[in-house]
Amino acid sequence: FSYCAKDLGLVLLAEIDEAEIFKPIAQLKNQIIVISIIISSIFVGIAFYVSRTISRPITKLRNAVDRISKGDYNYKVDIKSSDEIGHLGHQFDEMRKSVLETNRNLNMLVKERTKELTDMTNALDATAIVMVTNRDGRITKINQKFIEISKFTEKELIGKNPCIVKSGYHRTEFFEKMWKTISHGEIFEGEIKNKAKDGTYYWVKTTIVPFLDENRQPKQYIAIQNDITDLKNIEYALQEALKRDKESAEIIKRHVEELKRTNIELRRKDKLKDEFLSMTSHELKTPLTPIIGWCGALKTPRILGDLAPQQRAAVETIESNAVKLEKMISDMLDAQKLDLNEMKFTIGEVQVDLLFNKIKKDFEPLLKEKDIQFIIRAETADIRLESDEARILQVISALLYNSIDFVPKTGGRIEVTAESRDNNIIFCIKDNGPGIPKDKQEFLFKKFYQVDTSLTRKHGGTGLGLAISKGIVTRLGGTIWVETEEGKGSNFYFSLPRKY
Ligand SMILES: Nc1ncnc2c1ncn2[C@@H]1O[C@H](COP(=O)(O)OP(=O)(O)OP(=O)(O)O)[C@@H](O)[C@H]1O
Ligand SMILES: [Mg+2]
Repeated sequence: FSYCAKDLGLVLLAEIDEAEIFKPIAQLKNQIIVISIIISSIFVGIAFYVSRTISRPITKLRNAVDRISKGDYNYKVDIKSSDEIGHLGHQFDEMRKSVLETNRNLNMLVKERTKELTDMTNALDATAIVMVTNRDGRITKINQKFIEISKFTEKELIGKNPCIVKSGYHRTEFFEKMWKTISHGEIFEGEIKNKAKDGTYYWVKTTIVPFLDENRQPKQYIAIQNDITDLKNIEYALQEALKRDKESAEIIKRHVEELKRTNIELRRKDKLKDEFLSMTSHELKTPLTPIIGWCGALKTPRILGDLAPQQRAAVETIESNAVKLEKMISDMLDAQKLDLNEMKFTIGEVQVDLLFNKIKKDFEPLLKEKDIQFIIRAETADIRLESDEARILQVISALLYNSIDFVPKTGGRIEVTAESRDNNIIFCIKDNGPGIPKDKQEFLFKKFYQVDTSLTRKHGGTGLGLAISKGIVTRLGGTIWVETEEGKGSNFYFSLPRKY
């Protein structure tokens, strides 16, 4: 340091060490540098810390986004901060969880659906004949059943048109219509007769489903078929049978018509015959009365004088034949009347013991003459019923005449009884004759039926007695039946109601 005082003419010089002068400044400078470094470090530290806390979650989030976008939905977004980033991270993790859940559900659904589809395809394959064609109708796929039924190999079928199995049974229009339906995207259903490789025919019930592309144009067709050959065969047989049945029905109908006409004609003729018979019977009976009468007169010497023995025998023959003829005509008339429901009945009180007395009186001489043991008795003395006495007498007589003819020549035995049971009176005519075979019994009460035996031939008759008896008993409200065994005699019964 120098100072020049011109006035004084002096110069003042002062010297000091420079280092000493700048020492505090250097010290201060160092202090400032140190403090600056410390402050900077602190700042840098703070900045680093702050930047780390802000960017870490963002980085975490970015990593998570990267992993999740690559499909790692299990990667958890773990951001703990409670600021916006933390909130974003949490939301993102929720979204990931929801996507994961949806994914899981979707996977399950897809699995289920795939299984269903597989099951359905398997079921279809096992039960149906399946063929897939492309849009041009070329076979692209067939199942085992198609191969089995068509007898072609897979190689022979793939790429071919389904008309490889055409049978020629259907008209061209049938297939044209089918193709038109499916190429318009509609389902076809029908029954098709196909021909297998070995020439045999088979029927399939067919459903063809067109599968459409995004332009709604068929891209392939699936034909699902079922073998209905057996069914068709049965149907055919049935139709044939029906046709035959129809023809038979027509024939039967014609026959029935014919029978109806014949029946009407027969009825007409039958009526004519009945009328003729009843008229002729009357006409025949009328002349018999004087014949029988004159025979009686001829046999009586005091009327027309004595006859030579030969003449008398001749008159007796005439008389007995005339009587037979008269009985026959009467029977025919009775049968006729019963058929036409024209027989007259006179209902009154019938006292069985009085009736039996009459029978005894009428038959005892004949039975004695034939040496037949005859028993006639009622169970109790006072059996009465409301009926037609003359007709009961007619029935008992018819049965008795039969028995008389059939009992053995010696040791013949006939028993007539009556007993009351509930509201009926049961009459029985029992003999020890030959009986009647079982297989003939059902015809006994039919008109003109006679069991063909030598005894019957000897017995003669017309086979009307039992038929008339049945007719009378029925009209009187009763029933008639026989209990007999070959070789053990016959028991003819008829029951009549106590009240008519
Ligand atoms: N008591 C009997 N024993 C055995 N056979 C009998 C007896 N009664 C009837 N028959 C059989 O039944 C048949 C029918 O009897 P039915 O009285 O109807 O006629 P018929 O005696 O032959 O003739 P008809 O009574 O008109 O004179 C007889 O021909 C006979 O063969
Ligand atoms: Mg008879």
